Amino acid sequence: MKVLIATDKPFAKSAVDGIRQEVEAAGFELALLEKYTEKQQLLDAVADVDAIIIRSDIVDADVIAAAKNLKIVVRAGAGYDNVDLEAATAAGVCVMNTPGQNANAVAELVMGLLVYAVRNLYNGTSGTELLGKKLGIHAYGNVGRNVARIAKGFGMELYAFDPFCPAEVIQSEGVKPLATVEELYKTCDIVSLHIPATAETKQSINAKLLGLMPKGGILANSARKEVINEAEILEFMQARPDFKYVTDIMPGNHADMAEKLAGRYFSTPKKMGAQTSEANNNAGIAAAKQIVDFIKNGNAQFKVNK
Ligand code: 3PG
Repeated sequence: MKVLIATDKPFAKSAVDGIRQEVEAAGFELALLEKYTEKQQLLDAVADVDAIIIRSDIVDADVIAAAKNLKIVVRAGAGYDNVDLEAATAAGVCVMNTPGQNANAVAELVMGLLVYAVRNLYNGTSGTELLGKKLGIHAYGNVGRNVARIAKGFGMELYAFDPFCPAEVIQSEGVKPLATVEELYKTCDIVSLHIPATAETKQSINAKLLGLMPKGGILANSARKEVINEAEILEFMQARPDFKYVTDIMPGNHADMAEKLAGRYFSTPKKMGAQTSEANNNAGIAAAKQIVDFIKNGNAQFKVNK
């Protein structure tokens, strides 16, 4: 059995070493494709592999078709919008993610973005504090609940909207569940996005929703680029000079945003939320273990396709 790590954005070395240990202990072989620049490199690398570990790497129908022996793809992370699930299912390929394994890393990055935002991007002027501010957690999954855990330490007032998470669960963690997305944006000084990119959520963060936020509102995005209506957020922020946007996913209109919203817009140059050695170890090694358990024992606990 051959397992390929295909990561455009490589794991920390410790994670690759840990994955190798798991794979070789199972009697499998490990191959590594990092920092590739052309899709063809990925197509060539998958030709003879049984399993692939990826991050945000695109596994589309071409990649699946090129991987004739493929049995399983594990996205070492949470979001699997980068994998063509239908093509995988049609080819009899199991797709999994590693839920929760990188959640703390992303949540810590969010808090860093929020401090940076309220301190006016450390530009030397007087800012504000997070203490006592209302934080809206848009989707209460693994990252959302880690943000809640850390934000409690900052003394923030916590709210969440998640139609898929029971209100009792949210409430039991000291967070106030709100019944509608509009209520979340109306109530909160700061909103942190933790929604996946799906047909329903794409472009859903628009001017109408942001317009509900109080004066001095801040939006933090550590989720996905696609959930933002980029043209509308630029227009909205030009009309609302009090509003700030901090993101870990560079928008398509970054140059325009940076020029027109100077001092209240910030994007990391590359998605860095899950880029810690701890998160890489957790997600990468979990992915390797899931592959071994699937191939040896048929365990498909974390399967996300049909
Ligand atoms: C995820 O979905 O797990 C995060 O967005 C992290 O993505 P990455 O592995 O590309 O950093």
